[in-house]
Amino acid sequence: MKKYNFNAGPSMLPREVIEATADACLDFEGSSLSLMEISHRAKNFQPVVDKAVELVKELLDLMALYKMNKFHWHLTDDQGWRIEIKKYPLLTEKGAWRKFNSHDKECIRQSKVNDNPDMAIPESKIRIVEGDTLYGGYYTQEDIKEVIAYAKVRGIDIVPEIDMPGHMLAAISNYEGVSCFDETGWGTTFSSPVCPGKDSAIEFCKNVYSELIELFPYKYVHIGGDEVEKTNWKKCPDCQKRMRDNKLKTEEELQSWFIHDMEKFFNDKGKEMIGWDEIIEGGLSKTATVMWWRSWAKNAPSKTTGQGNPIIFTPNGQFYLDYQEDKNSVANIYNYDPMSEIQNAEMQPLVLGVQGNVWCEWIPSRERMQYMAIPRLLAIAELGWSNPSQKDWNAFARRLANQFERLNIMNINYRIPDLEGFNKTNAFIGEGIVNITCLDPSAEIHYTTDGSVPTLQSPKYDGPVKVTETTDFTFRTFRPNGKPGDITTTRFIKSEYTPAVTAAPSNPGLKATWHEFKGNKCTEIEKAPVNGNYSIEDVMIPKKVKGNIGLIIKGYINAPQDDIYTFALLSDDGSTLVIDGEQVIDNDGPHGPREVVGQKALAKGYHPIEIRYFDQNGGQLKMKVSGNDGKEIPFTHLYAH
Ligand code: ACM
Ligand code: ZN
Repeated sequence: MKKYNFNAGPSMLPREVIEATADACLDFEGSSLSLMEISHRAKNFQPVVDKAVELVKELLDLMALYKMNKFHWHLTDDQGWRIEIKKYPLLTEKGAWRKFNSHDKECIRQSKVNDNPDMAIPESKIRIVEGDTLYGGYYTQEDIKEVIAYAKVRGIDIVPEIDMPGHMLAAISNYEGVSCFDETGWGTTFSSPVCPGKDSAIEFCKNVYSELIELFPYKYVHIGGDEVEKTNWKKCPDCQKRMRDNKLKTEEELQSWFIHDMEKFFNDKGKEMIGWDEIIEGGLSKTATVMWWRSWAKNAPSKTTGQGNPIIFTPNGQFYLDYQEDKNSVANIYNYDPMSEIQNAEMQPLVLGVQGNVWCEWIPSRERMQYMAIPRLLAIAELGWSNPSQKDWNAFARRLANQFERLNIMNINYRIPDLEGFNKTNAFIGEGIVNITCLDPSAEIHYTTDGSVPTLQSPKYDGPVKVTETTDFTFRTFRPNGKPGDITTTRFIKSEYTPAVTAAPSNPGLKATWHEFKGNKCTEIEKAPVNGNYSIEDVMIPKKVKGNIGLIIKGYINAPQDDIYTFALLSDDGSTLVIDGEQVIDNDGPHGPREVVGQKALAKGYHPIEIRYFDQNGGQLKMKVSGNDGKEIPFTHLYAH
């Protein structure tokens, strides 16, 4: 059975042209067409309009090559309004341009400190107005027609999104009667939303969508509906009146009232609606399609399909292509099974497909966007097209190697996957061997051991290297065209087994202290006030711990024998691991899900450990420990005082 049957869904349109390129693609399974989408948060791409259109076309070519057939185009956000709306010209005149924000400044900083031109803001996206340097741009309606025509002959449908009622800063800052209060900007978590209590605001939203619907000749429109801060709604007399008039008990229900009202408007114009999974919260209509993005909102798939509504999978744990890649990212996508989230097999046909998202807050250039999207995009395509029973990672990895060759010829700027065969830190007793592999056989690897940045003139790695002393390696990959890729540092540490402590701890589990922490560095957690103490059986976020999280977790690991132990610490955001008073893993700082792996040689017995972790919204924390034989050591070996 083909679980992802494109033709089974009522939403599917023919894709004649794509078949022309099919023989040149990865080996997709069979002929069923799946709904695969790539969302492109447009906000950073469109300053010089012509160029931006060319960039979108290039992306569409790439999608067609890999048989992706839905382009979800996120056209507006707080950081920029990217589509011309003729009735409201200020949306682009003002809303498409901004002074450099913290994202832009961070991109510029990284371009300098990492000597990476792909992180620089291209001149073409900048203009000077009355002495202010502004970043931005937008698509005219003519541009959009051009993109639609281009997508059509490539068999790609576009799902346009104007995100509301949140993420609408351009609208609420430039037009009266759209927000609850005159004062606009950021609340505590997200921007002030549209006021669903005001008829003028609803009319504004519908007018904007009327123009969008005129432009895009497709079945779906995407309302957005994500990340809405509702504090204004609680205080706004118009919102409260709307709630009373419609017998709405909560602000979540008010959000659903707004979404349902918009959906009726779309339906009247012959369109169906998709929304991010937040649209479930105050009550989901019978007809909306849900796009699941919040990996941590775990019941969203079963809630959606349990009610009979279709769903598209883009959980951020795997499918956010703007998140920093690590050595597991491509495999995590490839091995993902959407059906595992939906227990009732009868509901599984409601899964329309999988989607990757490229949000561009920290992506200033074409090269950077391609670098972030590829090769993960290929894994998404393969996942969407494959019969799950026939998935085979090794076969995919082999075919991926050929695709790198092709992408080199096409001058597409992909990311060379992480080098493998070592951890961030590696312990050895006596003599160690550095043995490296890479999924991309066309990559050339050069290295230094003096901390300097490797160049094409540095020693070339072409086989295992022996180490007898503690050595810091810096590796750098290069594309065949000489373009440098990532720099990886790894330390090989000449070690002795660290002696165990003598006193055996008595209680099973670990002790976690939760601090009300709003910072972004693990070393600062203890300065924040304590919210509570928890006993946990595993390295994890205790169930009751939410919001501003700073955790300090303490206990002991019981090493079953003298051995070199490997610790893999996954966190979103930052984390650190200290064993016997020595830092083994530094996974600190704000970031998406990222695993860092380190090693330490431990003598048999108890060793004190401390894990620190912070996050402010929907994070993850997980630690795996294995011995030198690669076997995982279960967490019952951890004890607290
Ligand atoms: C989202 O990433 N806020 C949908
Ligand atoms: Zn209001």
